[in-house]
Amino acid sequence: MNLLSAQNISHSFEYKLFDDVTLSLDEKESIAIIGMSGSGKSTLLHILSTLLQPKKGEVSLFGTKITDLDKKELALIKRKELGLVFQSHYLFKGFSAYENLEVAEILSQQKIDTKLLELLDIEHCMEQKVTELSGGQQQRVSIARVLTKKPRIIFADEPTGNLDKTTATHVMRLFFDYCQEENAGMVLVTHDEKLAFMCDKVFQLENKTLTQVK
Ligand SMILES: Nc1ncnc2c1ncn2[C@@H]1O[C@H](COP(=O)(O)OP(=O)(O)OP(=O)(O)O)[C@@H](O)[C@H]1O
Ligand SMILES: [Mg+2]
Repeated sequence: MNLLSAQNISHSFEYKLFDDVTLSLDEKESIAIIGMSGSGKSTLLHILSTLLQPKKGEVSLFGTKITDLDKKELALIKRKELGLVFQSHYLFKGFSAYENLEVAEILSQQKIDTKLLELLDIEHCMEQKVTELSGGQQQRVSIARVLTKKPRIIFADEPTGNLDKTTATHVMRLFFDYCQEENAGMVLVTHDEKLAFMCDKVFQLENKTLTQVK
């Protein structure tokens, strides 16, 4: 089943960022987007994940154009089906790690998966406040929060930026296993080519064009 498709997307801010970007994501599939800093990777991810409207082109989720969805339908899809892991993670600072996961549990009506917490090696710091966690622990809590929702599509922007190589590879494996087990798909944005090439397909954003390199 097709989870996401983007047709001829163009976007610009002060200047043109990219033109005519077309890609699609199927169940159990992972795609990576690489490219230089400032090339527009995060912007493209925002467009694919419905946070930003493209200047031109069309994004479809689960076979329906985003522009054909009403506000309520779109809000429900965002809440239940899309999992966003951002460059900077937006955890609730005054809350404990566990309370942050409870928010996801309530919003998505999915149980917190204790096995997931063990896999991410964060089960021992659940009672700590977010401000008392290391950067890498915060990043893993935010990944746990996203996966708790059981989304059909994961959008991840440098999700392992704060992690050492071993932990980063481990977290990537977790994403891949998740996609297989839950019939989900992932769009990963990263500078790290090694991590990118672990995905099924790799696209490079360069000279305002997206080119498939794997
Ligand atoms: N909301 C915005 N308004 C105006 N310009 C923006 C906005 N968001 C991004 N830009 C500009 O668009 C360009 C691309 O930004 P973007 O964040 O997509 O790059 P990126 O490829 O993700 O870079 P990095 O690898 O450093 O994260 C940058 O020049 C940035 O300043
Ligand atoms: Mg970025």
